Amino acid sequence: MSTTTLIRHGRIVTAVDDYHADLLIEDGRIAAIGRQLNVGPEVRVIDATGLMVFPGGVDCHTHLENTFGDSTTCDDFESGTRAAAFGGTTTIIDFAFQNQGTSPMDAITRAQAKAEAGASIDYGFHVIVTHVDDAVLGDMRHAIRHEGVSSFKMFMAYLGTVMVDDAAIFRAMRMVGEHGGMIALHAENGTVIDLLIREALAQGHTSPRYHALTRPSILEGEATHRGIKLAELAQAPVYFVHLSAKEALAHVIEARDSGIPVFAETCPHYLFFDESVYDSDDFSLAKYVMSPPLRSREAQDALWTALKTDDLQLVSTDHCPFCMKEGHMGRVRQKMYGQDDFSKIPNGAPGIETRMTVIYDGGVRTGRISLNRFVELTATAPAKLFGLFPRKGTIAVGSDADLVLFDPQAEQVLTAHTHDGNHGNCDYSLFEGRHVHGKVRKVLSRGDLIVDEKAWLGTPGRGQFVRRGEAGGF
Ligand code: URP
Ligand code: ZN
Ligand code: ZN
Ligand code: ZN
Repeated sequence: MSTTTLIRHGRIVTAVDDYHADLLIEDGRIAAIGRQLNVGPEVRVIDATGLMVFPGGVDCHTHLENTFGDSTTCDDFESGTRAAAFGGTTTIIDFAFQNQGTSPMDAITRAQAKAEAGASIDYGFHVIVTHVDDAVLGDMRHAIRHEGVSSFKMFMAYLGTVMVDDAAIFRAMRMVGEHGGMIALHAENGTVIDLLIREALAQGHTSPRYHALTRPSILEGEATHRGIKLAELAQAPVYFVHLSAKEALAHVIEARDSGIPVFAETCPHYLFFDESVYDSDDFSLAKYVMSPPLRSREAQDALWTALKTDDLQLVSTDHCPFCMKEGHMGRVRQKMYGQDDFSKIPNGAPGIETRMTVIYDGGVRTGRISLNRFVELTATAPAKLFGLFPRKGTIAVGSDADLVLFDPQAEQVLTAHTHDGNHGNCDYSLFEGRHVHGKVRKVLSRGDLIVDEKAWLGTPGRGQFVRRGEAGGF
């Protein structure tokens, strides 16, 4: 259904440029950029006067239809990618889960089958590796070289389920380092956390606040340091997901300053909320049960500074939504599953639709980061780091015409009320009631207009699997 489109009079913003020009889109790609491009009457014209034109957002950490233990996230590829698109994100990297006894390639095949029918924007996968042996390593190499899957997530936490030991991480790092891949680490000390959880429960502490109290930031710092040392020895790049702790950040900064290829993301919830929310034993705090938990105000300020100075490279969502109300959208074993035991509350929070808007409002408008840096953090850096660039993550001739027309003057109130603009399945938003400046007006994915103000023009299944190049190279 691709047509030729001209986007006229927009203010084009990339990670490095900021200028007014017209964009010509042909066959889903950007065909020309110039001042006052002339086109015939057959060309569809979109007037972007007064609007900023960003490259479509790249969210490299989402969990759609992901199952953890007994609980499955409440957004599937249909609802999750629709919500992403309304928020200005046009590419996601989700997860393919290697169950015990299955191979990474099985995991990729299963994840692709799930995404194929539902996704309305483009997508790739990291494989969650839960077991390492020679066959698994061979499969990972094949995935990097031939399947366009060049990154793998491993867990240093969640003892007894997905946690792997240091030797497994080291073996995987050594292999991917040689073949152009990258390991993404969930860095928290799983064995000590497990002990603290058991002690808390034995003392009768069952409410959600104990989720945070049993995952102190020093244990994120310790695991991050360990992960860096393993990567250094393995001579491989390493990526830290959902970095939240000041202690962890200090280790990343130290390593980067000494030239080790260490990269890290943080997520909007760590930038806008802090541990003071865990102030009671009320079960409603389950909405803040994510791992790592929310940290101190000082940590929050340090994360913002690090985004500005490139000690942190990007912002992804870790969109991992579980409903507060059992049975909402037919989903069971959601947050209420841990009503009597905080350790059973499925971990994670929604955020796929609000990322670009809250980072624009809370970052650019307040002067914490520049407009170019905003684009870099939300689109260009994730595309470069995970092998999607220059097809994704920038506005250039030949790149996919994944574009966001953003109105910096518009104001809106964020909410989880479906009729008011929540396009996913989750029944709550961490940003409920937040008044923000800036609004996504139109979104194009490979030249197709999929969001036009309030109208949804995307179709499930139009999203394509994107084969990625090498990861960790930039
Ligand atoms: O709490 C979180 N982050 N849940 C999602 C799984 C993960 O560790 O990223
Ligand atoms: Zn994680
Ligand atoms: Zn995650
Ligand atoms: Zn409402």
